[in-house]
Amino acid sequence: MAALAPVFRKAYWALILGVSFYIAALTALANPWLQRHPEQFGFAKNQITPFNFTTPDHETIYAWHVMPLGLYAKHESEILQQPSGLADDITQTTAFRLLRDDPDSRLIINSDLPQNAGTVAQGWRTDSYRSLSDGSSSNIHILAIDYRGFGLSTGFPTEEGLITDGVAAVDWALQVAKVPSDRIVILGQSLGTAVTSAVAEHYAMKGINFAGVVLVAGFTSLAELLPGYSIAGYLPVLSPLKSTPAILELFSSKLVDKWPSASRIANFVRMSKRVRLFILHAKDDYEIPWTQSEGLFAAAANATTEGGMDLELLRKMKARTTVDTGDGTFISTWKAGENKIIRQEVVAYGHHSRVLTYATVSLAALKAFGLDEGGALPVSSLEVDAESDYNHLIL
Ligand SMILES: *[C@@H]1O[C@H](CO)[C@@H](O)[C@H](O)[C@H]1NC(C)=O
Ligand SMILES: *[C@@H]1O[C@H](CO)[C@@H](O)[C@H](O)[C@H]1NC(C)=O
Repeated sequence: MAALAPVFRKAYWALILGVSFYIAALTALANPWLQRHPEQFGFAKNQITPFNFTTPDHETIYAWHVMPLGLYAKHESEILQQPSGLADDITQTTAFRLLRDDPDSRLIINSDLPQNAGTVAQGWRTDSYRSLSDGSSSNIHILAIDYRGFGLSTGFPTEEGLITDGVAAVDWALQVAKVPSDRIVILGQSLGTAVTSAVAEHYAMKGINFAGVVLVAGFTSLAELLPGYSIAGYLPVLSPLKSTPAILELFSSKLVDKWPSASRIANFVRMSKRVRLFILHAKDDYEIPWTQSEGLFAAAANATTEGGMDLELLRKMKARTTVDTGDGTFISTWKAGENKIIRQEVVAYGHHSRVLTYATVSLAALKAFGLDEGGALPVSSLEVDAESDYNHLIL
């Protein structure tokens, strides 16, 4: 029995992942109208500009530019006079101009997708946009997209295709909106963390560093989440999937597409000159257990030292930089020199998706942007520099 238990647990995750994904995706497909009416979600009139951009492989991606409410308030009358709905040319909008021309504007590129976040307007996503950008003095804009095959975007989702979309969104920000990468945070939740990890690795290879990378409720790789499982085995349970070929394709291609986030994030850490990586998870996440974030953290931390270290040493060093925040929750801050900082936070509440709207995610963004105390990450007395600690512990 004991030997079977992990197998059941994995089957359980696979099932939960599958069912929630499929419900969300069907809801999304059924409700494209919702995304055309952002006010429906409590945003101010024209606070969101829907627009399209094209990927290098010619898919049309539907996107939202969400402007911060504080900034909106200062330009309300001008913004109200603008046409609503899909912008033919977003560069002509006031919101876009404010994003591009303000040297203090910042941008979060949100790629929480598609497992339980089928479209820009799905689930907790709209609430999360508000919690990220509503501070009265906030100048944090948000870019959110419907990945190919979802919502109002064209195409068919595959691992390669979704990464292409994530990269295209960042390219739009860098080249069209002309926001420098050190004022951009890329953020993903759930399966979106796999896209975000790949996008982070992609730009690290090009020598481009972001203000921060935030992974919420992530996992080390799909193979580790669902090892040895033929997704097809679950299709009788998920038979309505069969009527939606694009979803069926994504779903069954998942085991072909491995989504190796832990090794991608390790590459990202290794290749980047500057790292601000935030790994967040709620203890009560029943879809992807928080222990998956432990694996992401270990891979990232391991990549800060030449040649890496064994798990025991890593655990010892991590323990020395971990602040116990009660009820089994904690914050670990791993520093390698001044330039690479990895922060893992396990919070008590937030489940799998709702946590996106919680303070911990906004706080990570503020820290990444240097909008926290002293414009730097907190230096707790417990914080130990990984390099010197490493030398100390092995000597
Ligand atoms: C945006 O894309 C949608 C399809 O996804 C299309 O119907 C619409 O015409 C496009 N609009 C522009 C301005 O390209
Ligand atoms: C750290 O990386 C090294 C070299 O890549 C590897 O041999 C080691 O197993 C890794 N340690 C952990 C804890 O992942």
